[in-house]
Amino acid sequence: MRVKKAIIPAAGLGTRFLPATKAQPKEMLPILDVPTLQIIVEEAVNSGITDILIITGRNKHSIENHFDRNIELEMVLENNKKFELLDEIKKSSNLANIYYFRQSIPLGLGNAIGCGRSFVGNEPFAVLLGDDIVYSDKPATKQLIDAFEKHNSSILGVQKVPIEDINKYGSIDGDFLENRTYKVKSTVEKPNPEDAPSNVAILGRYIITPKIFDILDKQKPGVGGEIQLTDALNTLADLEDVYAYEFEGDRYDVGSKLGFLKATIRAGLLKEDIREEFIEHLKDIVENEK
Ligand code: UTP
Repeated sequence: MRVKKAIIPAAGLGTRFLPATKAQPKEMLPILDVPTLQIIVEEAVNSGITDILIITGRNKHSIENHFDRNIELEMVLENNKKFELLDEIKKSSNLANIYYFRQSIPLGLGNAIGCGRSFVGNEPFAVLLGDDIVYSDKPATKQLIDAFEKHNSSILGVQKVPIEDINKYGSIDGDFLENRTYKVKSTVEKPNPEDAPSNVAILGRYIITPKIFDILDKQKPGVGGEIQLTDALNTLADLEDVYAYEFEGDRYDVGSKLGFLKATIRAGLLKEDIREEFIEHLKDIVENEK
């Protein structure tokens, strides 16, 4: 079965980025001139996804506005013959069929995904975390969809991280098969480095079978008192085959200050019209820091 639907959870409180996230969603913080969430929606669309459910919450209205048309602005840009900008702002309202579900209390990522049950129905679906972006030649979600089509089972997007950082992620216990693929035996959310089954971390991209919803319905809170998707995936791995795929690409957690800064610098270096001057500026700063 082809993967056509995606859930993007974006209802978290973004406490790591306060005070910026007091009244605005962290998922709308721009990486240069494009909101994080648009970069993620574009990855999904470039991977063949046609229908996207964004899980929202209080203070998240700007998300809906961004993916809707802004007729007044369109008229102004048209009258001023700013056609390039006009195309740019129309683009974000035409990317995919986008739906919204409001998670009334941010009880955790597992709870957010559970909110997508009736949207997903009985199909495999993609999950892209609303604060993780990946720069890669082939979209990370497309890499996972290709792995799904090979194995017809849930695929967790993973990469190796330094073992001292594994307590920020879900860690997998798995057997390496070949071609970047692991067969997953179990998963643990945010383990201490000394207890972690491996340094192979689950990083914000998943393809999951609909069986997960029955599990999430019964899932008890785990680490941090939150309903954890990793715990539900651990149960899923007991019931059916689950694989992990080490996707290619540079991934940034833009919900963290350092990740946001790194992604912004990366985006600046990719922008032709400012690139040279920006590099000179970075060199100057680094020189003066020494
Ligand atoms: P995070 O754990 O990174 O988001 O969840 P958070 O809770 O907002 O982060 P901090 O620690 O307070 O800064 C990963 C993704 O899942 C969403 C978040 O919006 C983020 O995009 N999420 C998390 C939900 O949609 N609902 C939740 O209950 C929790």
